[in-house]
Amino acid sequence: MTSRIIGTGSYLPETVVTNDDLSKIMDTSDEWISSRTGIRERRLVKEETTASMAAEAAKRALENAGVSADEIDLIIVGTITGDYVTPSTACEVQAAIGAEHAVAFDLNAACSGFMFALSSAHAYLQANLAKTALVIGVETLSKIMDWNDRSTCVLFGDGAGAAVVKRDEVGLSGLDIGSDGAKGMVLACPNRTNNNPLVQTDKTLRYTYMDGQEVYKFAVTTVPESIHRAVEQAGLEIPDIKYFALHQANIRIIQSVAKRLRVSVDKFPISLDHCGNISAASVPILLDEMNRKGMLERGDKIVMSGFGGGLTWGTAVLTW
Ligand code: UT7
Repeated sequence: MTSRIIGTGSYLPETVVTNDDLSKIMDTSDEWISSRTGIRERRLVKEETTASMAAEAAKRALENAGVSADEIDLIIVGTITGDYVTPSTACEVQAAIGAEHAVAFDLNAACSGFMFALSSAHAYLQANLAKTALVIGVETLSKIMDWNDRSTCVLFGDGAGAAVVKRDEVGLSGLDIGSDGAKGMVLACPNRTNNNPLVQTDKTLRYTYMDGQEVYKFAVTTVPESIHRAVEQAGLEIPDIKYFALHQANIRIIQSVAKRLRVSVDKFPISLDHCGNISAASVPILLDEMNRKGMLERGDKIVMSGFGGGLTWGTAVLTW
């Protein structure tokens, strides 16, 4: 027995912000952003919240799976941008969709958030602690960006993706997840600082900091290695894989991973051109787009891989 994805859903905010729109408010250009990253536009929230986007993606995934909210007994949300410290986004989703029988919690693994949530749901399902899980990746990254720092803010967007996961004979067959906390500060966003009667620290709001080149180096070395490990664990070889659904950080990272795996870049579907990097949400949004375009057929072997803050990485091989 393993765990299978039986439905997907996603939600992107209404408001589209193009590279040209950004060039009107900061010193950047469509040429710089698209040539270095492949990103042409992203969606940013106006009315939407992290929980509202997650709940909408969840409803669409339930509909796609033909499963009612009542049947969900586990909700895991990968996010670093919940609306509240507590309640968790997962608890907010539970309330919004009426999944009253679910255990619900969030998990922080940044851009690997969906992959960590999927592997955790898999563990719950295999241990018989749950029967039908909702796994979500969602981010409102626009609220943790420094909009005066053109080297980071142009890369990111907002959105949500979700998958319904159930125990089945076929599904997940290889899993490689890992962390390297020693390198955590190359991509960091501070939380609240101490503010108690004993210690008063600087209350200045701090936003996301990224050493782009270090993250780039980490991604292009770690991701191919992780994919090789997961594919081997699945008893498969790289040519057996129909699609590689990678975290959508940068087209150059994806091209480099394709080259290192000696696989045509055509096997790497893309959503970053219209979404930007949405951290934990990018892999499930991409998977949902592939699903809804009819790209996935029963029996296809798919690799999904997330990587980023922590540093963290997570790769899964699955049979659709
Ligand atoms: O989920 C994981 C998230 N992180 C990533 O995936 C990041 C991985 N890293 C990258 O994708 C790349 O490192 C970046 C796209 C972030 C940056 O590309 P780069 O080729 O490493 O550029 P750079 O940081 O070396 O900057 C080159 C130049 C600099 O100007 P000077 O010093 O050469 O005059 C920057 O000031 O580009 C300048 N620059 C910009 N120019 C126009 C930086 N940001 C911008 C901008 N528009 N938005």
